[in-house]
Amino acid sequence: MTVDVRACSSVEELRQGLDAINHYFGHRNEPEDAERFAQWIDVERMLVARDGDRIVGGAGAFTFSMSVPGGETVPAAGVTVVGVLPSDRRRGFLTALMRAQLDDCRARGDALAYLWASEATIYGRFGYGIASRAGSMKLARERSTFARPFEPRGTVRLVEPEEAAREFPPLYERMLPQRPGLFTRTQAWWETRRLAPSPWDPRTPKNLALLELDGEAAGYAIYTVKQEWAPGGYSTGSLNVLEAMAPTPEGSRELWRWLLDFDWTSQISYDLLPVDHPLFLLLAEPRRMDFQVGDGIWVRLLDLPAATAAREFAAEGAVVVELADAFRPENAGRWRIGSDGAERTDAAAELELDVADLGSVYLGGFSFADLVRASRIREPVPGAVERGDALFRTTVQPWCAEVF
Ligand SMILES: CC(C)(COP(=O)(O)OP(=O)(O)OC[C@H]1O[C@@H](n2cnc3c(N)ncnc32)[C@H](O)[C@@H]1OP(=O)(O)O)[C@@H](O)C(=O)NCCC(=O)NCCS
Repeated sequence: MTVDVRACSSVEELRQGLDAINHYFGHRNEPEDAERFAQWIDVERMLVARDGDRIVGGAGAFTFSMSVPGGETVPAAGVTVVGVLPSDRRRGFLTALMRAQLDDCRARGDALAYLWASEATIYGRFGYGIASRAGSMKLARERSTFARPFEPRGTVRLVEPEEAAREFPPLYERMLPQRPGLFTRTQAWWETRRLAPSPWDPRTPKNLALLELDGEAAGYAIYTVKQEWAPGGYSTGSLNVLEAMAPTPEGSRELWRWLLDFDWTSQISYDLLPVDHPLFLLLAEPRRMDFQVGDGIWVRLLDLPAATAAREFAAEGAVVVELADAFRPENAGRWRIGSDGAERTDAAAELELDVADLGSVYLGGFSFADLVRASRIREPVPGAVERGDALFRTTVQPWCAEVF
């Protein structure tokens, strides 16, 4: 079947393109939803699939820069709002949307595309590889003692959105070089998305807290409070952290102590933590975090030389890989990848892998050894896995602080 896929040219088309995904979220798709969404996406980066006159599906891409190992950023597409109406599933519309979207991303100069997958079974066929793990916690407040207690010296102020929109972005930007997987945020993104109440839950305020040390902004938290009372009259409420960022270890310790000491709660929850969060070492009883791990972001490499040049390698040298890429065959073939970049080669392949596997190791979230243990890649030349891992190794796990 040939499918008609087009870029949107108006906010009204964008609204129709959002119909499919909103159907699954159970939201009625109002014109103001598209107006709001148009503040974050270039309208023409929303693609819609049509069957005759009907728009049956859509797929969008945010224009992001993503942080990579070593502290640089690369142009990256943040793939979002992918959906095909339930009446038209399994007719190839998603495949056509993905093909057109990746072509468009490549033409725009994105080194890669990345996304949060609603289901882990959808995107591997399009070359996306699982690239990070993400954690969630539910910590009983009474078990939140630190292993090494300290005397806090910072002050925390609750701020209005206008002040947060000035003070939070510079702190977030200082986190970017420290964590692969984060993306740059526009001012509109901050003001109308990250700091604004959720349109689906407008009555729950997002609370905005700014930590200061020596009179300087040193961290921030965005959180909601859900209050509940046990029949006996004590609080069983929870503090739900949406984002807590502090670019220094001292700021992080101060911010977390403040959050964990919140009155009238019995637990602190946070649904999106890196798997190597400092709380594991700050807390005396890390197991009381009740930490759950799942897949995080998925990475699809598009421009191998650009993506390779941007990231830092932990050693000098290269590995020769035989790359399979069924969905974008132009990437397939033999590549020498390492500290001098990525280039085509005729040298003998040392590792055989799919482009999705390279996406898995790109940010340092998985190693070649992990992929071998899972029977995902082959190592025709013994020792290549070890050499590859010495190159791609990072000291921090990738993390994206926000589902998009
Ligand atoms: C997921 C979704 C977009 C798929 O759209 P679609 O148009 O039915 O997909 P296609 O017809 O192009 O399917 C392509 C292939 O992927 C497979 N596939 C599609 N959705 C899948 C899923 N959820 N799980 C496993 N496989 C899936 C199809 O079986 C097909 O495989 P085949 O080529 O071997 O036959 C659609 O079902 C949907 O909107 N789901 C709910 C919303 C959602 O999850 N969106 C993704 C947000 S991240």
